[in-house]
Amino acid sequence: MLLEILKYPDPRLADKSTPVAVVDDEIRTLIENMFETMYTAEGVGLAAPQVGVTKRIIVVDCGVREEGEETPLPPKEPIAIVNPVVAEGQGSIVWEEGCLSVPGYVDEVERKAKVKVTGLDKNGEPLEIHAEGLLAVCLQHEIDHLEGVLFVDRLSRLKQSMVKKKLKKRAAEEASA
Ligand code: NI
Repeated sequence: MLLEILKYPDPRLADKSTPVAVVDDEIRTLIENMFETMYTAEGVGLAAPQVGVTKRIIVVDCGVREEGEETPLPPKEPIAIVNPVVAEGQGSIVWEEGCLSVPGYVDEVERKAKVKVTGLDKNGEPLEIHAEGLLAVCLQHEIDHLEGVLFVDRLSRLKQSMVKKKLKKRAAEEASA
């Protein structure tokens, strides 16, 4: 089932998500729907709060894509993590990021270059992922969503206020169109 993706400046995107106590069928269905929504929107990651569910769940797929793939994108390297935590981080990397909740805007953000992320898989089993490059960036971006933090919140203060003003104006125009 496709879920509605909340768009900035929806205040719910700033809410902090709560840990999942039990990974049950309801959570597994949510994960399935999040994957379907992400592949249809042609994104590489999605966090539960982006679909209005303030639970600590993320899905990502940073598998290499070919030109002209059909929508919804075919799964390549799907990863779902419940209660994800960046347990270790090293170095720094600057990557041009975008977000399904901030359509039409990309910008460079600095993050840890290598991370170890721990959490639970869709069966509630412990999971540990060592990532670098795009996957490391993507995991940190999605985990930020669980804290109510968007990539635009990580821009310099000056840039942030300019960008947010522009995004709010655009959202207001779209709402009135
Ligand atoms: Ni995002």
